[in-house]
Amino acid sequence: MSDIVYNAIRKRVKVFFEFIDSELMIHPTQNDFWEYLNIRIPENPVPLTDIIFELVGKEIEITLLLKGEKKSINIPAIQRETEKDRNTYFDLELITCDRSDYPLIVIIEDRTRIFSYQQKLVQSRNETKLLQKQLAEKNKALEKLNTIIQRQNLDLEKRVRERTQELQSARIEIIRRLAQAAEYRDPETGSHIVRMSKTCVLLAREIGLSEKDCDLIYHGGSMHDLGKIAIPDAILLKPGPLSSKEWQIMKQHTIRGARLLSDNDTDLMITGRIIARSHHERWDGNGYPDGISGENIHIFARICALADVFDALVSDRPYKKAWPFERAISTIEEGSGTQFDPEIVKAFLDISDKAIKLQQDFKDKST
Ligand SMILES: [Fe+2]
Ligand SMILES: [Fe+2]
Repeated sequence: MSDIVYNAIRKRVKVFFEFIDSELMIHPTQNDFWEYLNIRIPENPVPLTDIIFELVGKEIEITLLLKGEKKSINIPAIQRETEKDRNTYFDLELITCDRSDYPLIVIIEDRTRIFSYQQKLVQSRNETKLLQKQLAEKNKALEKLNTIIQRQNLDLEKRVRERTQELQSARIEIIRRLAQAAEYRDPETGSHIVRMSKTCVLLAREIGLSEKDCDLIYHGGSMHDLGKIAIPDAILLKPGPLSSKEWQIMKQHTIRGARLLSDNDTDLMITGRIIARSHHERWDGNGYPDGISGENIHIFARICALADVFDALVSDRPYKKAWPFERAISTIEEGSGTQFDPEIVKAFLDISDKAIKLQQDFKDKST
């Protein structure tokens, strides 16, 4: 074996030589073999089996060459690598044992293998880092995308909210104008609708309805007499008392109003329909158009019935002067359980001061 090749091996592997007798005892010799094994140089020969025990777990390979034996030794790492990796490294032939009568132990430290492991470790660390970096980049991109989507969603929600608000305002405006149109033909004054709707809200709040319901009853209440649009002038504007037939036609304003507000199932339209149809129903069932009674009458309609009558009583009408508040209040009280829902009458008595103030704040301009 040439010196160049030998030195090449020494760079990659650690080679120890130690002589072994025929009893497989290793004789103590001053060299780094014992240091490598972390054993103090023994005074007497040591059995080869003890040495092998010391070597267990180290990345080494022991090769025992007998006297005069020639053996080809592959660098251990190469032997243990997969077929694919085998060609990456080189094979060497160690021919030894020529110079002694004793068998020879050659211990080759597997630095190649360790190096290979380290390389793989570094490589896998690099790959992990790369993957982490790629993952972080993807996460960042995802976060960015998420932010964009969230922003778009918020924008969309805002636009939908605005559009809904717009539609709702448009609906309310149409209803207000429709109610106004009805007022033009109705001998009842314009402020009646405002006062009546506001009184409805006072009552609704007092009996504990939600703010949403208060809002619905406020706008829906303004539509209670919408059906009067369909009543002929001869009846609607008749100064004297109505005949029985005329009265039947007059009562139709409830059904006509509900019909005008049909075919639309928004909360507001549903409320408008309920109120238009049922605001003349009575708690005892003697009202119109359906003659329903008690809680079969929708709470919105029960509230409107009271507010409508109270406002009519305390307002001037072509056929009567406005009643004093006290008289109107006691009349309402007398109607508890017959014309009106007792619970709503009770609520009305509790808010009567506010109802009176409302009357004063929204007086008809003509009075
Ligand atoms: Fe009415
Ligand atoms: Fe009315």
